[in-house]
Amino acid sequence: MTTLPNIAWIGLGKMGLPMAHRLADAGYKLTVHNRSMDKCAELVAKGAKEAASAGAAATGNDIVISMVADDSALEAVALGNNGAIANAAKGALFIDMSTVSPAISIRVAAAAAQAGVQYLRSPVNGSVIQAAAGGLVILSSGPDDAFRSAKPLFEVMGGKIFYIGADEQARYLKLSINIMIGITASMMGEALAFGEAGGLDWADMVDIIASSAAGSPVINYKTDTLKDRDFRPAFTARQMAKDFDLALTSAADANVPLPVTALVRQQWNAMIGTGRGEADFFAYVELLEDLAGIKRS
Ligand SMILES: NC(=O)c1ccc[n+]([C@@H]2O[C@H](COP(=O)([O-])OP(=O)(O)OC[C@H]3O[C@@H](n4cnc5c(N)ncnc54)[C@H](OP(=O)(O)O)[C@@H]3O)[C@@H](O)[C@H]2O)c1
Repeated sequence: MTTLPNIAWIGLGKMGLPMAHRLADAGYKLTVHNRSMDKCAELVAKGAKEAASAGAAATGNDIVISMVADDSALEAVALGNNGAIANAAKGALFIDMSTVSPAISIRVAAAAAQAGVQYLRSPVNGSVIQAAAGGLVILSSGPDDAFRSAKPLFEVMGGKIFYIGADEQARYLKLSINIMIGITASMMGEALAFGEAGGLDWADMVDIIASSAAGSPVINYKTDTLKDRDFRPAFTARQMAKDFDLALTSAADANVPLPVTALVRQQWNAMIGTGRGEADFFAYVELLEDLAGIKRS
C-alpha cells in the first residue's frame, strides 16, 4: 500500500473548506490553517491538526496547498519568514489554487525556486457546489513532475484536470475564463431586463434562454437560483471585480485591449456602490432591472 502524503491546507473560506473536507474524507492527514482560526474547527473534528500560522502548517508536511482570497492573501500566506515557502522542507511541493495575478505568482515562483520548493499554480473553475462534490475543473501549470505528484490529490477535488504549461499559463487561462463568466452575467442581466419590459414571465424566460443557442454551462448552472432570485453568494460581485482587475492589469502589461471587460468592470463598481458587493455576481440582473426602472411586485 502506498502512503499518502501529509498535507498542509491554508485557507478555509467558501471554497477551501469543502475542498479540504474532500481530502480529509479521502484519508489524507491534514494540518489546517486559516487566518480566522475558528474556521478550522470542522476539520479538527475530523482529525486534522490545527496550525497557528501558514509557516507552522507548512513545517514538516510533504505538500502545502493554499486557497485564499487574492494577491495580498497569497503574499501573506506564502511569502515572508512566517510564510509557507520559508518553512516548507526542501523538496516539498507548494500548490496555490487561488485566483491571483500572474505578477504575484511570479514572485511566489521565485521564492519557491530559491527555497528549493516545487511550485504549482492550480486555480479552479466551478463554485462551492462543485467543490463539495469533487467536480471542479483544475487548471495547472508548473513543473510537470510536480503535476504528476499532485494529480491524485487533484482527482479527489476535480472532475476535469488540465496540465497546461511550465509557468504562469494556468493564471492567464483562469482569468480568461472568469472574465467570460462575468460578461455572461452582464449579458443575462440585459436580456432579462429587456424581456421583463416586454412582459415575459421571469421563470419561462430563464428556462428558455438556458435551453437556447445562447445557453451555456454557467447559465444552466445558475438557472434554478435565477428562477428563485436567490442571490446568496457562491462568488460575490466583489470577487468578480477583483478578477476583472487582475485580467485588465495583466492585459495592459501585455498591451492586449480588453474593451468589453473594461466596460463590464464599471458595472461591478455599480454593484458594489448599490450595496450588492457581497451578493452573488448574478445579482447583476437586479442592477439592470433598477437601471431600467423595472418594479417587481
Ligand atoms: N467562490 C467561488 O465560487 C470561487 C470559484 C473559483 C475560484 N474562486 C477563487 O478561490 C479563492 C477563494 O475563494 P472563496 O470563495 O473561498 O473566498 P472566501 O470565502 O472569501 O475565503 C477567502 C479565504 O482567504 C483568507 N484570506 C483573505 N485575506 C487573507 C489574508 N490577508 N491573509 C490570510 N488569509 C486571508 C480568508 O481568511 P478568513 O476566513 O480569515 O477571512 C479565507 O480563508 C479566491 O481567489 C477566488 O477568486 C472562488
